[in-house]
Order: sequence, then C-alpha cells, then structure tokens
Amino acid sequence: MSTTNDKTSTGLVAWLDERLPFSAFLNKHLLEYKAPKNFNFWYYFGSLALFVLINQIVTGIWLAMFYKPMATEAFNSVEYIMRDVNYGWLIRYMHSTGASFFFIVIYLHMTRAFLYGSYKKPRELVWLLGCFMFVLLIAEAFFGYLLPWGQMSFWGAKVITSLFEAIPYIGTALAEFIRGDFTVSDVVLNRFFSLHVAAIPMLFLGLVIFHLAALHHVGSNNPDGIETKNLVDEHNKPLDVVNFHPYYTVKDIFGFSVFLLIFFAFIFFQPEGFGLFLEAPNFLQADPLVTPEHIAPVWYMTPFYAILRAVPSKLGGVMAMFSAIGVLFFMPWLDRCPVKSIRYRGFIHKVMLSLFIASFLILGYLGTVPATPTLTIVARIAAIFYFSFFILLPLYSKYEKTKPVPTRLTRSH
Ligand code: HEM
Repeated sequence: MSTTNDKTSTGLVAWLDERLPFSAFLNKHLLEYKAPKNFNFWYYFGSLALFVLINQIVTGIWLAMFYKPMATEAFNSVEYIMRDVNYGWLIRYMHSTGASFFFIVIYLHMTRAFLYGSYKKPRELVWLLGCFMFVLLIAEAFFGYLLPWGQMSFWGAKVITSLFEAIPYIGTALAEFIRGDFTVSDVVLNRFFSLHVAAIPMLFLGLVIFHLAALHHVGSNNPDGIETKNLVDEHNKPLDVVNFHPYYTVKDIFGFSVFLLIFFAFIFFQPEGFGLFLEAPNFLQADPLVTPEHIAPVWYMTPFYAILRAVPSKLGGVMAMFSAIGVLFFMPWLDRCPVKSIRYRGFIHKVMLSLFIASFLILGYLGTVPATPTLTIVARIAAIFYFSFFILLPLYSKYEKTKPVPTRLTRSH
C-alpha cells in the first residue's frame, strides 16, 4: 500500500521540502499520525478547542482594528463596532460568544481526561501543559472582559484585583503593582489590553504547540485507557490504530459543522446567552460611583467565585479559590489507580467523580446568583465535595477494586 510518504514531491513543495522538511512534518503529525480507532464523542473537543482558538484570534484582530483602549473611548468604540462598522456586530458576537464556547469546549475536553485517565502516565506533561493553558485562558478572559468598559467590566476587575489585598504584608502593594494605580482606571485598561491582545495569546500559542508535541510523542489515550503505541501484530504492523487522515479529519470536520450550527444559532438568536455570556449591567458604561446591585463574573468562572464566597475570611476565600484551580495540576499524582478508563474503574471512583462534577456544576450555578444564608451553606457543602474528590483520591485509588482491562481496544463507540 502506498503512503503519502512514498510520493515524490514536485514543484513548489519539492523546493520547500529541500529547505525545510515540510511534507514529512505534515505526514508525521497530521496525515499519518496513528490514533486509536475507538475515539468517541469526547474526542471532538481537542480539535474544537483549536478551532475556537483560531476564531478568537481572527475576530480579536478585527476587533482591535476599531477598538480604542482608553477609559474615555472604550465603551463608545464597542458601540461603534456594534452599530456602524460593517458586520461589526457579527465579529464582536463571534468573539464574545466565542469566549463562552471556548470554556464549554475546554470543560468538556477536561472532562474527557477525567473520564479516561488521560492525565496519567505517560501523559502527565500533556495534562500539566493543559492546566497552564486553563489558567492562561481564565486570565485571558478576565483581561478581555474589562475592555468594553461596562459596569460589570469595571466592578468585576475591581473585585478581583482587590482580592490580592487580602495577602498579608504585601497585599496592598501587590494589588497596586498589578493595577499600576490605586484603583481600576485608564492605566489598568491599557495594560489589560496589552496583555489580552499580545502577551497571553503568544504564550498560549506556544503552550498549544508543546501540548500537541507532547501528546504526539507519547500517543493519544482512548476510551479504553489502553496504550496502543506499542501494540503490533506478528508482522510488526500497528494494531487498533488508524491514520489520522482521513478517519479523524472527517470526524473533526463533522464536529466543526455541528459546533458551527450551535455556535451561530446562539450568535443570531441569543448572542447574550440569556444574560450569561454578556451580562446586562455591561450595557451601561463603567461608573466608579455606582455599584451594580449584584457583581458576578461570567458563568465560566462562577464555580471558583462561589468557592471564594463560601469561605468566611477574605484571605481564606482567596486561598480556597486559587487552590481549587491549583489542585488540578496534581491530578496525575493524586490518582494512584493503575487502571485509566472509567469503564474499568471501581464503584467508589465512579461515585466520587460524579459527585465532583455535580459539585462543580452546583457551585457554577451558585456563583451566578446573589448569596443568601441558605445558598451559602449549599455552597460550603458543594465546596467540601469539590475538595474531597482530590483529598480522598490518593487514599482509595490504590486499593480500588477494578475490572479486568482488555489487552485490545473493545468497543468502537
Ligand atoms: C486551548 C486550549 C487547548 C487546546 C487547543 C487543546 C488541544 C488538544 C488537542 C488537539 C488534543 C488532541 C485531540 C484530543 O485528544 O481531543 C488534546 C489532547 C489532550 N488535552 Fe488538550 N487542549 C487544550 C487545553 C487542555 C486543557 C485545559 C487540558 C487539561 C487541563 C488538556 C488536557 C489534554 C489531555 C490530557 C489530552 C490527551 C487526551 C487523550 O489522549 O485522551 N487540554 N488537546
């Protein structure tokens, strides 16, 4: 059987290949990359994350052509984009709704890793780089949200930057250093703009390349959690894997199509995402003298915000919030079970993972509504469940009763 490698390239491709092995790179990492044959629904979201990332970068570049990063002009420049720039409304909604869809895709992408133990050896580095990207994504979204200079942009930035003041001794100085001012002002808007459009995207793109390079070095995991990299028959032919192209290029194109249908349904009919993607107070210009009735971050940060609010002391809340994200980095070492996939894991782990996901969703909801005494208690219980998952995992995972793991891939769905 001939492969793309056998073909002798001609013309421009040959000219390029002589100077840089372009075709060989493309073959190795895309066309002939060997992927397990049983990828399922959960395996749409890596390529979708790349797709949404490109959408954010392209629409972001176009927005930056019209946006003005000045406290006096920012809000009006966004209004100008929405009303006067040709298709400005479309570009802006593709970016703002795109941010929410980015988080939906990433949360589902991370769920897959939890389900199939993709963070475990030999993919710890893939996971760690993913965690760094998650932190960067939160920072990127936070910086971006200040830019329209609406009420929620201003007060959200004020709440979050003042959190650093809770750190003993250095807190106030640190918050001032981050802002470059005593309060959220034009100075903050300028630096957030620069971080949002230049620093973070560049770092992010670098991490994506390392994330994929590390993955391709060790090979993809799969819903059975079996290592397929060294699985060969008596003739040394790889078993249970297929070439990425055409099998997964076609699958991914299908994924992109369904994604685009849902994405544009939102953009055309519900761009504000029922007040969750773009919050109502943000349609009013920032006013340092009028506090909105209820300050809440955008939905994708609300689980962590709910944890912050659930702890009575400010410093304790800040520490709990950062720990809730930081603990993710330790997953590969907290989970000591030799079995990867949830399909063959014990009952306790299935219950614990379900409770963890449920607590995350409950916290996410609670972070969007004003805190009442009853809801605060619910948030505390949910936060305890959230952290219990990580605390108990190393204790039970080593002794967990697991099912026998097959040696070859089983189901194709
Ligand atoms: C913009 C951010 C990200 C992009 C563009 C991205 C992209 C990808 C792609 C294309 C793959 C291979 C296809 C697939 O397995 O679905 C992948 C795999 C993976 N990603 Fe990400 N990713 C991102 C963020 C993250 C985050 C935040 C995490 C976790 C904290 C993560 C953890 C993983 C893991 C563990 C794998 C291997 C999965 C397996 O083989 O089962 N990624 N990523």
